Amino acid sequence: MAEKQSSSVARKSLGLFLMTIMLFVLSWLFVLRWTCPPPRSLDRKSFFRSSNGVSRTILVNNGKQSDGGGREEEPPKREQGFQDKDGALTCNGIVKEPLKIFMYDLDPEFHFGLLNWKPQGGRVWPDIRTQIPLYPGGLNLQHSIEYWLTLDLLASEISDNPNNRVAIRVQNSSEADLIFVPFFSSLSYNRFSKVNPHQKKSRNKVLQAKLVKFVTAQKEWKISGGRDHIILAHHPNSMLDARMQLWPAIFILADFGRYPLNVANVEKDVIAPYRHMVKSYVNDTSDFDSRKTLLFFQGSIYRKDGGFARQELFYLLKDEKDVHFSFGSLKNDGVNKAGQGMHSSKFCLNIAGDTPSSNRLFDAIASHCVPVIISDDIELPYEGVLDYSEFCVFVRTSDAVKEKYLINLIRSINKKEWTQMWEKLKEVEPLFEYQYPAKDGDAVQMIWQSLARKVPSVKMKINKSRRFSNTVVPQKDGGLRSIPAPKNFW
Ligand SMILES: *[C@@H]1O[C@H](CO)[C@@H](O)[C@H](O)[C@H]1NC(C)=O
Ligand SMILES: *[C@@H]1O[C@H](CO)[C@@H](O)[C@H](O)[C@H]1NC(C)=O
Ligand SMILES: *[C@@H]1O[C@H](CO)[C@@H](O)[C@H](O)[C@H]1NC(C)=O
Repeated sequence: MAEKQSSSVARKSLGLFLMTIMLFVLSWLFVLRWTCPPPRSLDRKSFFRSSNGVSRTILVNNGKQSDGGGREEEPPKREQGFQDKDGALTCNGIVKEPLKIFMYDLDPEFHFGLLNWKPQGGRVWPDIRTQIPLYPGGLNLQHSIEYWLTLDLLASEISDNPNNRVAIRVQNSSEADLIFVPFFSSLSYNRFSKVNPHQKKSRNKVLQAKLVKFVTAQKEWKISGGRDHIILAHHPNSMLDARMQLWPAIFILADFGRYPLNVANVEKDVIAPYRHMVKSYVNDTSDFDSRKTLLFFQGSIYRKDGGFARQELFYLLKDEKDVHFSFGSLKNDGVNKAGQGMHSSKFCLNIAGDTPSSNRLFDAIASHCVPVIISDDIELPYEGVLDYSEFCVFVRTSDAVKEKYLINLIRSINKKEWTQMWEKLKEVEPLFEYQYPAKDGDAVQMIWQSLARKVPSVKMKINKSRRFSNTVVPQKDGGLRSIPAPKNFW
C-alpha cells in the first residue's frame, strides 16, 4: 500500500516536472518573441506588402518568404541573424506589420483648435498637405508629444507607402490594435488652467470633464474597459482630473512622480522623452579636451519635494575647479546660454527636481554632454530596448551627497571612457528627436514601438476581463454592454 502510494506520488511529481519544463520552454518562446524589436527602429526594409494589397505577417526563413497566414501566428524557429533578400535582419524571422491605430474624431477644441486652428466646413482635422498649424514655441514645446504623434497618424493616411510606417491610422476600430485619444492635454494645462473672472472652471478642467464623458461612452471603451486606449498626459500636471477616471488606459507620461501606483506604472504605461530645448549639436567635432568645463548644471537650486539634493550638491561642488553651477530658468536667453554651456562641458548634472524627470536630461543628450543622473525614481524612455548605462552615469542620491563622492567619481572617468560614452550619445541622440515628418528611429517612431510592445499584454488583459462576463452583448439600442475594469487591475 505504502509502495503503491509512493509510486503514484513519483508519477505525479514526474508529471509535474515535465509540465514545469514545458511551461519554461513556452515562456522562453514568448520572451524571445516580444523582446526582439531592435532599439534603432523597425527596419524599413523589413516590411512587406503582399500581392493582394493586404499587409500580413510574413515568416522569413533563409531568404525564402512564406506567408505566416495572419498576425503573429506560430513562433518561428529561432535562427540567429537570418536575413531577407535585401539583407535586412528580421526580428526572429517575423516581419512586423504597422501598428494599427484608431483615432477618435474628437472636436477640434481638444486638439488643433487649441492651436487657434479654425475648422472650416465641419472638418475635424486640418488638411496637412496644405497647412500644418504650429504648436506654440518656448517651454510649451517640452511636452509637445501630443502634437507630433497626432500629426504622424494624420500623415499615415496620405502616405504613398503606409506599410513602411511604424503606425498607421485605421478607420475601423475593430481592426485596430490600439485606440488613440487626441487631446492636447499638456497644451491645455499650460495655456488654459487659469480661471478667468467670468468662468466658474478653467477651460482645462471643462475639457477634461467633457473628454471623460465622451470617451467612456464610446463602444470602443466599453469593449475594452479602456485598456487599449492611449491617453497623452506628458506634462506632470496635465489630465489632473481625468487621470483618475481614465486610468485603465495606457498613459504616455514624462514620469510617474505625481501618480499613485495603481493609476500609472511602468507595466501599463509608456514614458516619452521631453522635447529638448537647447539646439541639437550638429557636426559635433568637440572632444574630451576641447570641452573645458568638467561638470555643468543649470536650474534653480531651491525646489520643493524631492529637490533637497540640489542644495546639498551646490554646497559640495561650488568651490570645485571646472564645475559650473548656473541658476535661473530657461526663459529668455537662458536656453541659448545653457546650450553653449552644455556643448562645452564633459558631464551634465541631472538632479531630481520637483518631479523625478526633467527636460535637462534631454538637453544634455542633444548636446552630447554625458548625463550624470541623480534621481533615484527616474523612469527613462524606451529602457526596455536601450541601456542608459552606456552613455549616462547614475549616482544614488544617498551617495551623491557624501563629501567628495561625486566629484571624485567624475574625475576618475578617463578620456577613453568618456569618449566611448560621447560616441554612444551621438548614436542615440536621434531616438530623442521629435519632428514632422517623422524619421526612421526618431522619438515618434520609438514611442509607437513602445506602444506596440504593450499590445500583447493589453489583449490578454481584455480577454481575461471577459472571464466572468461571457461575451460582449449587443443591446437593443445598438450599444454594447460595458465590461467594467476590476478594482485592482492593471
Ligand atoms: C469593421 O471591421 C469589422 C471586422 O473586420 C467588420 O465586420 C465591419 O463590417 C467593419 N465595419 C465597417 C463600418 O466597415
Ligand atoms: C554639417 O556638416 C554637413 C556636411 O559636412 C554640412 O553640409 C552641414 O551644413 C553642416 N551643418 C551645420 C549646422 O554646420
Ligand atoms: C484574445 O481573444 C481573441 C479571440 O477573441 C484571440 O484572437 C486573441 O489571440 C486573444 N488574445 C490573447 C493575447 O490571448
